[in-house]
Amino acid sequence: MGYLQGEKPITITKLLSMHAENEKISMLTAYDATMSALLNRCGVETLLIGDSLGNVIQGHKSTTRVTVEQVAYHTSCVARANTHAFIIADLPFASYGDPVQALASAAELIHAGADMVKLEGGGEWQIEIIQYLVERNVPVCAHLGLLPQSVHVLGGYKVQGKTKDASKLMCEQALACEAAGAQMLVLEAIPSSLGKQITSSLNIPTIGIGAGPDCSGQVLVLQDMLGMSPGKPPKFVKNFMDGRSSIEAAVKAYVREVKSGKFPKPEHGFAG
Ligand code: KIV
Repeated sequence: MGYLQGEKPITITKLLSMHAENEKISMLTAYDATMSALLNRCGVETLLIGDSLGNVIQGHKSTTRVTVEQVAYHTSCVARANTHAFIIADLPFASYGDPVQALASAAELIHAGADMVKLEGGGEWQIEIIQYLVERNVPVCAHLGLLPQSVHVLGGYKVQGKTKDASKLMCEQALACEAAGAQMLVLEAIPSSLGKQITSSLNIPTIGIGAGPDCSGQVLVLQDMLGMSPGKPPKFVKNFMDGRSSIEAAVKAYVREVKSGKFPKPEHGFAG
């Protein structure tokens, strides 16, 4: 274990103090031990076992087929090779519909090696779940904006929060997530101006993916930022392999650019 050899593990306290000191937080998705070790070597501070594994590992068109057992399996693979990064695991679709189910699902992910769980949405029922989990010592990251688990309701992967009403609701939901005890908030595919507004209204860090440069940190799907994903990438993705000859060089460049504020650029964001 790296930290037994002197490598300090990154804790939620460390991430919150980085945020308080305006130091940007780098996050990437990870699903296996090899990449977990590599991301640790490159200085990525937080690893997300996203239910995007349904797309990039399993080849599905959406994340909705992913199960808790599958996220737990990938979390254990990542955790085994992790030396010091903070690990967040996604509660997948329909695994947190009521408090008892949510706690059982979250416990499975924590037992597999997660430090925190992430869930999508900021409606009344999700706020209740966040509060329930936090009161039972499960650290929670909320996720607002484009919610991939709701793709069948949203009618596709679309930028969210573009109207006045939608952006107002998202600001209210972000505050409610924080009040319920969430300690981090992922913001996906929203106007950059809204990313900035939400970030400045909260005390907890926001992690953006297509939410503009003013979030407290950034996350991308690993295979997307390595240019491996088939088809046209979303606007918010930058291919860090461009002009580089190794995955390590690409990941190090990502960390460098997130931390210096060089990534994302305005062209990776959305207008309101
Ligand atoms: O599942 C995932 O990878 C995610 C990121 C896109 C934030 O939730």
